[in-house]
This record gives sequence, structure tokens and C-alpha cells, in this order.
Amino acid sequence: METIPEVSLNTLSGPKAMPLIGMGTAVYPFAGSETMQAAILSAIKLGYRHFDTAALYQSERPLGEAVAKAISMGLLKSRDELFITSKLWCSDAHGDRVMGALQTTLRNLQMDYVDLYLIHWPVSAKPGKINLPFPKDEIEEFDMRSVWEAMEECNRLGLAKSIGVSNFSCKKLEHLLSFAKIPPAANQVEVNPLWQQKKLREFCVQKGIQVCAYSPLGAKGTLWGTDQVMGSKMLQDIAQAKGKSLAQICLRWVFEQGDCVLVKSFNEERMKQNLDIINWELSDDEREKIDQIPQRKGFPGLEFVSSDGPYKNLEELWD
Ligand code: A2P
Repeated sequence: METIPEVSLNTLSGPKAMPLIGMGTAVYPFAGSETMQAAILSAIKLGYRHFDTAALYQSERPLGEAVAKAISMGLLKSRDELFITSKLWCSDAHGDRVMGALQTTLRNLQMDYVDLYLIHWPVSAKPGKINLPFPKDEIEEFDMRSVWEAMEECNRLGLAKSIGVSNFSCKKLEHLLSFAKIPPAANQVEVNPLWQQKKLREFCVQKGIQVCAYSPLGAKGTLWGTDQVMGSKMLQDIAQAKGKSLAQICLRWVFEQGDCVLVKSFNEERMKQNLDIINWELSDDEREKIDQIPQRKGFPGLEFVSSDGPYKNLEELWD
């Protein structure tokens, strides 16, 4: 079993280790399933200790079930051996709804705390149930301060050991840092060789915010994905010459930057392959080639842009 390197996240009760490879659980259309539960159990057997879920994905329940099963089977002594991230959906991104949303998440997970709780998007939607496709006419003003204060309260109460954000640009992080009493521990964003996020990464490193990379393989076939990462000729050539898979080249590249890799596979062979990125490295020449890949965001987030909402265009969303 691979030992997965960890990074230390600051928490109110001292540093907490976050494994730098985590398993994503988002499948589209969103639905929890037996397959998902079985895949998570296999991942635990293979050595995965970090799982990424969200209220949106409907994967909190199967994750909770799989963890309970792993404990009853003796694969884990307790839930404390895991690092669990979940996220606050937009319809709960209102100061007075955050705590309730996290409590629902915890009930779904059958856990007393999450290790990391993130604001999923810098977007608020009409309170109520999660609606998809995302209804633009339900977008409301995002009051970052009151949402973050509620996140801080969750942190103080120990319901979330660390708190952070997802899909936040430099400008939005700067605004958050200007009033946060507890700074965000992490920013989860799209990172892969086709969307390298150089500016945002530099900013986060400078501010001590851990970058967690979603869609490291481009999340092919999903609403937020692109087939261009797995279809990249440059990456294919590098992979072939090195005797690695294209996926491993992507994951190793993300890992070498110090980002936390969140990769989704429910296939046991690919899960193994995705962990096998630790004991080898990319050469300078390979890194330079990857640096030259034309940049293109896989998920622009057009859903969150609307003429009557707070973000009138993509520049305002990603400023
Ligand atoms: P599967 O679950 O069948 O393995 P991302 O992590 O960027 O969101 O991408 C997830 C997608 O990439 C899923 O469709 C997943 O399919 C596929 N995938 C995960 N690992 C690999 C791999 N090592 N090789 C090829 N495809 C992979």
C-alpha cells in the first residue's frame, strides 16, 4: 500500500494532516449508489484516506455508509483516520443556513465533524432545495461576510476542523482575507495541465492557502468537464515516452506543484494507477513541454453568470 504524502493544515486545535491525494466522489448526473459505496470501500482498502464530497453530489450518504462498513470490517479503527471534505451548496450560502447545512451533511456522513468544509462557489441561490440545472433566476446577492462568519462558527464548534472555499478567484480571496478572523485553509479549484492556474496558485502559496485540484484529468463526460485533457496529444506523447499513463502524467504534474490532487475513479485498476504517482518525477524537459500547453478552462461556470445577478459576465465571476 502506498504511503500518501501529507500537508499540514492549520486548525484551531493544532495542525491536521491532509493526504495530498484524495478521491473525488462527484458523478454526473448526481446520485448516490451502491457502486459508489463499493468503490469508496475499495479505495479505503487500497490506501486512500482523503475523500472529497459535497451536499451537491449526493455522495455524502454512500461515503458515510462505506466508512461505517470499513470500520465494522476492521479496515479502519475509527473515522479519525480519514480526511473528509464536504461543501456548502449555494442555496445554503446564507449566514443563517450554514450551520443547518453542515449538520445535514454530518448526518448524511454519520460523522461528528468534517475535516474541511468549503463554500462551494462564491454564489448564493434562493434558499431551499438544490435545483439542477442551476436556475439563474434563483441567484441572489452573495454576502461573503455573513456566510464566512457562520463558517467560522462551525469551525469554533469543532464541526469543521478547517474551513475554506472553492472556485474563489484572487480578488475574492483578497476580499475574504480582509475581514476573516479565521483565514481559509484551502481553495479547491480546477487545476490540470490545460488550466494551470499560475496566478491563483502563486497568490494562494503566498497567503498560506492550500490549493486542492479538482478535475485533474479534466472530468471528461461531466457537466463541468472537458475531454481535452485526456485527449491532449502533448500529454499522450510525454506519457508514451515515459512509460506512464496520460492520467499519471497529469496527476504527477499537479502533485509536483504541491497541490492536493482530487481524482475520481470508481475503477479499481485506475484507482491503483492514480496512487502510483509518488515515487517518480517529471523531467525539466517534460515540465517545460507541459508549460507550453495552450490554456483553456474546462468549466467556465456560465451557470453563475446572469444579467440580474451579482456576476454579469465571466470576468466578474473569476476576476
Ligand atoms: P472512471 O471512474 O471510470 O475511472 P477527474 O478526476 O478529472 O474528475 O476525472 C474523472 C474521470 O476520469 C472519470 O471519468 C474517470 O473514470 C476517469 N479516470 C480516472 N482515473 C483515470 C485513469 N487513470 N485513466 C483514465 N481515466 C481515468
